[in-house]
Amino acid sequence: MNTRETLKINERGHLELGGKDCVELAAEFGTPLYAFDEAYIRKMMRIYKNTLDRVYEGRGMVLYASKAFSCKAIYRIADEENIGVDVVSGGELYTALSVGFPAERIYMHGNNKLDYEIGEALDAKIGCIVADACSEIDKIDAEAKKRGMVQNILLRINPGVEAHTHAFVQTATTDSKFGFSISDGTAEKVTAYALSKKNISLQGYHCHIGSQIFEKDSFALAAEKCMDFAAKMRETLNFTVKTLNLGGGFGVWYTDEDRKLPAEAYAEYLEALVAAVKEKATQKGLPLPFLLVEPGRSIVGEAGITLYTVGAIKDIPGVKKYVAVDGGMFDNPRYALYESKYTAVLANRADERPTEVVTIAGKCCESGDLIAVNVNLPKASSGDILAVLSTGAYNYSMAMNYNRNKIPPCVLVNEGKAEYIVKPQSYEDLTRNDVVPQRLTKK
Ligand code: LLP
Repeated sequence: MNTRETLKINERGHLELGGKDCVELAAEFGTPLYAFDEAYIRKMMRIYKNTLDRVYEGRGMVLYASKAFSCKAIYRIADEENIGVDVVSGGELYTALSVGFPAERIYMHGNNKLDYEIGEALDAKIGCIVADACSEIDKIDAEAKKRGMVQNILLRINPGVEAHTHAFVQTATTDSKFGFSISDGTAEKVTAYALSKKNISLQGYHCHIGSQIFEKDSFALAAEKCMDFAAKMRETLNFTVKTLNLGGGFGVWYTDEDRKLPAEAYAEYLEALVAAVKEKATQKGLPLPFLLVEPGRSIVGEAGITLYTVGAIKDIPGVKKYVAVDGGMFDNPRYALYESKYTAVLANRADERPTEVVTIAGKCCESGDLIAVNVNLPKASSGDILAVLSTGAYNYSMAMNYNRNKIPPCVLVNEGKAEYIVKPQSYEDLTRNDVVPQRLTKK
């Protein structure tokens, strides 16, 4: 097993997360359960913030990409750590504001922001909206005018960098639905268009090349392309970029096929980005822009695990062995979507060596409802507690109620103690919005 500082095997042979025995966690809170190590989340936030402050002399800000994991507590932690957040919907914005997250440190993304979302962002006076369509520029301008204000915006540009990741999470290729392409001249035209608007103030650009990327060079290349474009815009439109947001996307460990980076190694990604920005600024005679980065997965991904109870086990001789758990694609749809790989551990027998290769199946009525395929495990029995590692990002945030399964609760572990940050759903929660028209009521 790949143990991180957040995970260890204790003297009882149990898996421990952030100093809390996972078998106890399962007994106290039930399964399925998402558990997060607060210390690891804070550590990652600090590594990014301190590195940016150090190598870029405090002229930047780290934004936590809250799509990776959004709930009230995570915005409180980000606020306490003095970083900003990226939100991508009215719902994420509402959640952040509901716990007093400072609006000026909120950046709003999305390739098709709805009218009411733009209105809500303006009413809250958030720091910046990242526009990703001309129609959005029009709407932001019109809504800002109505309110007698000028809204700071960035334009999402597409540097055309191919990164090695799953096609669905690659975002800055020329055919992407995201961003205005630099290479075909669209980004320049849209810059001129945005500059012509009175109630928006164009601050600069944003790009995000994709997710789960380990190649430092891809990030540096994207930074260089954005700076080259900034230099061109100064020449052709006399527009000087004040802010550059280089997105997130830094990869994390899921299985031993991935690179296993100590938390501190993530500083190197920022160092590479900053070096590329500084070098280009000097080369092109540009002032250094205010620099933003938006890590999501690398802040929460390895901080989280999911605990399940093993139920039915089905051995199809000569074919495969299914170990079914009390969760499934409703709490982790990533195998169904991307054939994602995970490492699983029997939390109550974490000191035992794996003896077989199995497929972890969920409980949904769907053949593709698998959590992980071909994982190494000791021979599992019904009742064992199974931990799936590195589920902190894009699991709870992508969970759903398929088959009317309840989305599992989340607990935060801090100094060996755990408490809810998202409570369990009830059957009432599942039916809360259901309406039976009068004519269908049972007579
Ligand atoms: N900034 C923007 C504009 C983004 O679109 C994203 C992720 C991030 C930052 C954060 O990227 P991260 O550091 O988390 O890689 N559901 C997929 C991942 C989708 C990522 C979407 N955008 C998955 O489960 O792998």
